[in-house]
Amino acid sequence: MKTIIENSTWSISSFLENKNFSFNKIQILNSLSENDIDEAYSSISSWKDYSPTPLIELNKLSKELNLNKIFYKDESKRFDLKSFKALGGAYAVEKITKENKDIVVATATAGNHGRSVAWGARRLDLKCKIFISEFVSEARGQAMADLGADVIKVKGNYEKSLIECIKQSTENNWQIVQDVAWKDYMLVPKYTMAGYTVMMKEIVDQISNDQITHIILQAGVGGMAGAMVAGIAKYLKNVPETIVVEPDSAACVMESIKTGKIEKIDIKRESLMGGMSCGKVSLVPWEILKNSVKFCISLPDDDIAKTMKLLGNSSFSDKKIIAGENSAPGVISLIASCVDDKIKEKLKLNSKSNILVIGCEGDTDKEMYQKLINQ
Ligand SMILES: Cc1ncc(COP(=O)(O)O)c(C=O)c1O
Repeated sequence: MKTIIENSTWSISSFLENKNFSFNKIQILNSLSENDIDEAYSSISSWKDYSPTPLIELNKLSKELNLNKIFYKDESKRFDLKSFKALGGAYAVEKITKENKDIVVATATAGNHGRSVAWGARRLDLKCKIFISEFVSEARGQAMADLGADVIKVKGNYEKSLIECIKQSTENNWQIVQDVAWKDYMLVPKYTMAGYTVMMKEIVDQISNDQITHIILQAGVGGMAGAMVAGIAKYLKNVPETIVVEPDSAACVMESIKTGKIEKIDIKRESLMGGMSCGKVSLVPWEILKNSVKFCISLPDDDIAKTMKLLGNSSFSDKKIIAGENSAPGVISLIASCVDDKIKEKLKLNSKSNILVIGCEGDTDKEMYQKLINQ
């Protein structure tokens, strides 16, 4: 009888080894300082209802793939926002408003970052303006309105919503809390990344004596991946093989690593992995990722729904895991790499490997989640 893995196909679109790879801890921690990382952990871990999210062993999957351990960081349990994004935007709101209750915060978002900003504003009793493109689902918009934010829908794509956010914020003196950095706007994106590093601190506490040999990181604009690499530099003694995974329609980190400079992708098709459908890597993460990422993988959408289903029905672990669209690519790229002998060898995946994958989100869009797992 065929196993679950053998029963299906698992696709990678492209695979790239970074010819400029070098892991320089000092250089990485120059981009995101140890002080910023420490401060984020000490603030966030003192928030009401804070508790580390679970680190689940995908024991059934590691057995099937003949790997030692696979750790899945389950961000579906992050506060009541069900995504690691809760750590970033909300923390940046706290940092920039510094207890000043008269400040109005604003952001443009595809969904989860805005929820974090709205939630962070509500925590501190601040007014909040959220700009979304016409492509953001009603459910995601409503979730932010339910947190007390004014949600403003803008015709066009994410970039249009950001332009409108900057315009209205300048006119009205609102503070922009964006997770994307550009020239002259680096501090707030750094705070969001510092917030994300809390995941790495928790993981280090959770793995006890195990050593992580591989880490697979999803990327949109690269903030989460860059933050986790900074977390590796700060908290780990060893340097795991670092792999960035992106949708094949928006592989902006891969394309930039290929040429050694930031490349803009013209997105022709929006990926199901909505939070990762970004055309340009952000400046702060780029400084970290350009040398420290060893491999890049891009994926089609084909295996997302079935992976969400297999995580949800406990095929990969003893526990059922609620994994959203952006949580699946870590697991997919691991399976697809293991069934391709050449890639498996390149990545040095074997029976001693301990792989960390990030389950970025749960059912942040419930309707979409149900639709996909029922496919
Ligand atoms: C929900 C969600 N949004 C966004 C992203 C991308 O994060 P970033 O834009 O910081 O790379 C991810 C995962 O990579 C995600 O799961």
